Amino acid sequence: MPADFTLSDKNIAEVQKKMHNRDGMTTAHAMWPGNEFGSGKLKPDTHATACMKDCGPAPTITSELPGHARNVWGNLREQNRTVGPQRGADTSKPEGKLGDAAGPVKVVSPAGSDSPNSKAMALTQELGCTGCHNMEGKLVGPAFADVAKKYPGKAEYLEGKIRSGGSGIWGETPMPPQDAPAADIKTIAEWLAAGAGK
Ligand code: HEC
Repeated sequence: MPADFTLSDKNIAEVQKKMHNRDGMTTAHAMWPGNEFGSGKLKPDTHATACMKDCGPAPTITSELPGHARNVWGNLREQNRTVGPQRGADTSKPEGKLGDAAGPVKVVSPAGSDSPNSKAMALTQELGCTGCHNMEGKLVGPAFADVAKKYPGKAEYLEGKIRSGGSGIWGETPMPPQDAPAADIKTIAEWLAAGAGK
């Protein structure tokens, strides 16, 4: 259009006429069901069964921050909310271990890694505990390392406490009751009572 052209609702059709593929549109496919297919009666073919075979081991899904990009935009942790599952890593420090403030943003335990330690840690992420608990250092709730230090061998107590929640032991902030599968709570309680991997 000329440099002094002013677009309006009156002349927009003129502009549309200039579009390269103006007449190329087709509805002869189910992605955007047109009259050819009985208008909306067909579904796009997205339900096909995967025909892959002889695949390798199950993939591991992780999210990572490459070293060179770590602190380019400042400390990510300071730019995230202080509660909730996504709090960002403390990027002012070199990457630490899972559960540290400077640890990976999120680590999904590698496929096939089922040591009690990594299993319990993965569970604390899946169940959202890490929204309130760090491995080291108080967050909303006490650090798991401190809980483990306080209750060695007390798996049963911890199991009950995780299920019921409570307040007054580590501060005034209450922990809401955790509605998670009993077996998962047991795994975490036993992991804590055994020292949380320490
Ligand atoms: C909304 C925040 C929040 C979530 C989510 C949360 N906690 Fe807590 N948790 C707390 C707080 C706050 C305390 C401290 C309560 C107190 O002082 O008695 C606590 C305390 C604990 C304790 C110590 C209890 C005691 O008697 O000393 C354990 C164990 C624990 N949490 C495990 C878990 C596990 C496991 C999960 C996930 C299934 C979880 N928490 C999820 C906030 C949370």
